Amino acid sequence: MAVGCSIMAVVPLLAQYTLAQAGYGAGGASIPGASSYVAPAGYPTSAFSSYYPVPSGQEPQPALYDPVLNITYPLNLTNPDTLPDNDPDPVYYPQPIANLATTAQQAVINSVLQQVSEIINGSSIQGNCSKCIAALSVAKSAAQLAPSLVPDAMVALCTSSGFHSASTCAVDFEASTFGAIWTQVLGLADVSGLDGQYICNSLSSTFCPAPGVSPLHTTGLFPKPKPANATKPAASGMTVKVLHMSDFHLDPRYKVGSEGNCTAGLCCRSNALNTALPAGQVSYPAPLYGAFECDTPYDLGLAALQAVGPLTGTSKENPLGWTVYTGDLVSHESQNELSRLYAEYAEDSIYGMFKTYLTGPVFPVLGNHDTNPEAIDAPHSLPGPLGMQMSWNYDHVAGLWQREGWLNSTAAGQARLHYGAYSVKNHYGLRVITFNTDFWYRSNFLNFINASNPDVSGTFAFLIQELQAAEDAGERVWLLGHVLSGWDGSNPLPNPTNLFYQIVDRYSPHVIANIFFGHTHEDQVMIYYANNGTNQSLSTALNTGWIGPSVTPLTNLNSGFRLYEVDTGSFDIYEAYTFYANVSSFPSLANTSSGPTFNFEYSTRETYGPAAKWPATAPLNATFWHAVTEAMEADQGQLVSTFNTLQGKMSIKTPNCTCEACVEAKVCYMRSGSVALGRECAQGWGSVQSPFKGKC
Ligand SMILES: *[C@@H]1O[C@H](CO)[C@@H](O)[C@H](O)[C@H]1NC(C)=O
Ligand SMILES: *[C@@H]1O[C@H](CO)[C@@H](O)[C@H](O)[C@H]1NC(C)=O
Ligand SMILES: *[C@@H]1O[C@H](CO)[C@@H](O)[C@H](O)[C@H]1NC(C)=O
Ligand SMILES: *[C@@H]1O[C@H](CO)[C@@H](O)[C@H](O)[C@H]1NC(C)=O
Ligand SMILES: *[C@@H]1O[C@H](CO)[C@@H](O)[C@H](O)[C@H]1NC(C)=O
Ligand SMILES: *[C@@H]1O[C@H](CO)[C@@H](O)[C@H](O)[C@H]1NC(C)=O
Ligand SMILES: *[C@@H]1O[C@H](CO)[C@@H](O)[C@H](O)[C@H]1NC(C)=O
Ligand SMILES: *[C@@H]1O[C@H](CO)[C@@H](O)[C@H](O)[C@H]1NC(C)=O
Ligand SMILES: *[C@@H]1O[C@H](CO)[C@@H](O)[C@H](O)[C@H]1NC(C)=O
Ligand SMILES: *[C@@H]1O[C@H](CO)[C@@H](O)[C@H](O)[C@H]1NC(C)=O
Ligand SMILES: *[C@@H]1O[C@H](CO)[C@@H](O)[C@H](O)[C@H]1NC(C)=O
Ligand SMILES: *[C@@H]1O[C@H](CO)[C@@H](O)[C@H](O)[C@H]1NC(C)=O
Repeated sequence: MAVGCSIMAVVPLLAQYTLAQAGYGAGGASIPGASSYVAPAGYPTSAFSSYYPVPSGQEPQPALYDPVLNITYPLNLTNPDTLPDNDPDPVYYPQPIANLATTAQQAVINSVLQQVSEIINGSSIQGNCSKCIAALSVAKSAAQLAPSLVPDAMVALCTSSGFHSASTCAVDFEASTFGAIWTQVLGLADVSGLDGQYICNSLSSTFCPAPGVSPLHTTGLFPKPKPANATKPAASGMTVKVLHMSDFHLDPRYKVGSEGNCTAGLCCRSNALNTALPAGQVSYPAPLYGAFECDTPYDLGLAALQAVGPLTGTSKENPLGWTVYTGDLVSHESQNELSRLYAEYAEDSIYGMFKTYLTGPVFPVLGNHDTNPEAIDAPHSLPGPLGMQMSWNYDHVAGLWQREGWLNSTAAGQARLHYGAYSVKNHYGLRVITFNTDFWYRSNFLNFINASNPDVSGTFAFLIQELQAAEDAGERVWLLGHVLSGWDGSNPLPNPTNLFYQIVDRYSPHVIANIFFGHTHEDQVMIYYANNGTNQSLSTALNTGWIGPSVTPLTNLNSGFRLYEVDTGSFDIYEAYTFYANVSSFPSLANTSSGPTFNFEYSTRETYGPAAKWPATAPLNATFWHAVTEAMEADQGQLVSTFNTLQGKMSIKTPNCTCEACVEAKVCYMRSGSVALGRECAQGWGSVQSPFKGKC
């Protein structure tokens, strides 16, 4: 059972916060609670029931018991000084189509490698895309005849051909990282057709161009046509407070004092290096509460959770209605440091902290980091055991969600069956429907099998079924996912988001009230329109995709979260307040008297309402957001500049968006709810985590 002891030094447990004067903060904006909250130094030792001993000055190591797995996670799983270098989990290969002896399998591999080298180096096939497709067609026989030997061959080919930088060949193609997954893709995809185009574009954008949208057969897509006279449930005039948290990315292996300004990979790790310095020297020692190139240490995550109550004006007596958590729990590990157990640890730890600190139920979705290998989820239609290779994860999270009291047994059963997704009617009468966006994420390589089919997994069929039932029952719905469907179009694949856009149109706004995502770590918003986005106007705006800011500061961002004021009849949003902690002013290692400060950042209505001439009594819906984009077009970039600053949560590292090209691109991204639309915008202004790639 849980061992260890509570050995933590005495920490000042009294939280200090400035009470907002009569509900008004600086600048006269109405705010829901305190305008700022200074977390106590260290972390609340009451957060967990038991701890492993750690060296003085390091992050806590709770001795976590997992009620679903019935294990206590061992210290060495998260000990910052014992980073693993390989993943011990089982890997899965496609069933070979012949039963060859090992020597015969090796001969197949040698012959394939020889042929592929000739294709790459020879002149009989011209052009990178054609060469890549031809090489895949040859390599397919290796995946079919000698699957377990393919990963090593891929590493060898990667190294000799230089199609990736040699230093990442192993971490990209070894069996225990992505090699076994790529073998499944090679063995099962139509490599000489569209699937091959996707695969070659994924291997390198210099091989094949990104494929566009495939024709979508819309006949019979929906059980019923959109009702002409649909009305949505009426507003009640009463509101409830709802928290939106995202991208926690807990780093339990965070090492205080290690390199916080490393030149590759995740910083603030015992193995993080700044190659510009002599070995052994550290340019920027990782502080207790986190840094711009690091994930969330326990001390920061717990400070953020402690800040929620005071800043949102909620407490046990006056609880949050509910919380939406839009995914990503696990740190940005290199794939060879990941394991199922490490992902399960983050799931158990963070959901447990939510249960302790957040009042009201939490509705979580899985993010691309909440699995292993990262971003991989397998459609059930894959043959044999491959279709269930990720069920361990759905079983685990469903068990935790039920255990925390957030889902009942029916919904937990759905989550086991639907890749972690569920549909529930909550205690306020809102239907919450979630879905696993790895089925449109470009880094889930299994999506390249039957890539022209936008719904290989059945995820969207489940969505349609639940939305139709909601329409029939007169319910209002919130949709929750992780990877956003649009913006600049750089994250998802075109076909599933094209389908999703049609689903949003069919069921909005009378059924779907709002849509929520995370993933980018940035504060963003997207508008969905009628008629596939062909005419973007005040009267065609249908729905809003709210992208929640991250708790993790990675990369170059401040830490944050958001609160909505939601009508309990219509489930429209009437206010959105965003909060942040300024990472550049976190207490230094020498300062042990207080923790980080979380602040009220802005009110969406106060910030954009006046320019959009939005009535004080109207909801912040898609029509509002379209009006905001029209105001952005009309005011020479001032409002976009504000949006851009808030996108990075007021980080000192956020690049300025002042030139016309940037302003135009931002407005275009805000109006793009699918890949097809996002790609029509000028590229290079999407993310504020590094200098813009777009040119003024
Ligand atoms: C949990 O594991 C312990 C051994 O570690 C075992 O004795 C116990 O029966 C298990 N409980 C359940 C419910 O499986
Ligand atoms: C942790 O300890 C277990 C059991 O001794 C061992 O199997 C595992 O390899 C260790 N892991 C690390 C990361 O050192
Ligand atoms: C192609 O030829 C070059 C030069 O002979 C060689 O170094 C390289 O390894 C070859 N590439 C492959 C994939 O065989
Ligand atoms: C073809 O691929 C090679 C890398 O293998 C790359 O150096 C080259 O730029 C690519 N050519 C084009 C036209 O993209
Ligand atoms: C909506 O139209 C349908 C027929 O298309 C009709 O049966 C129904 O009564 C109408 N509902 C309302 C609220 O007008
Ligand atoms: C981080 O390292 C780079 C060199 O790799 C250096 O130029 C920079 O000043 C360092 N930044 C900090 C905050 O130490
Ligand atoms: C891909 O499509 C083919 C042909 O329609 C089908 O037989 C196969 O099951 C599909 N594969 C997956 C993973 O859905
Ligand atoms: C679980 O909740 C749903 C509403 O979301 C309800 O329809 C279902 O009957 C409940 N299941 C159980 C076992 O209580
Ligand atoms: C777009 O919609 C607006 C408002 O409904 C309408 O005035 C305009 O004519 C439409 N434009 C096109 C090209 O359909
Ligand atoms: C947004 O609210 C306004 C004011 O109530 C309303 O006129 C408009 O139709 C709403 N837009 C949507 C997409 O529901
Ligand atoms: C953005 O502009 C402001 C005001 O001119 C300036 O203080 C800030 O340093 C600029 N930010 C960056 C990252 O250049
Ligand atoms: C929607 O529009 C995009 C272009 O923005 C297009 O590629 C796609 O095929 C359209 N989808 C449908 C279902 O018409």
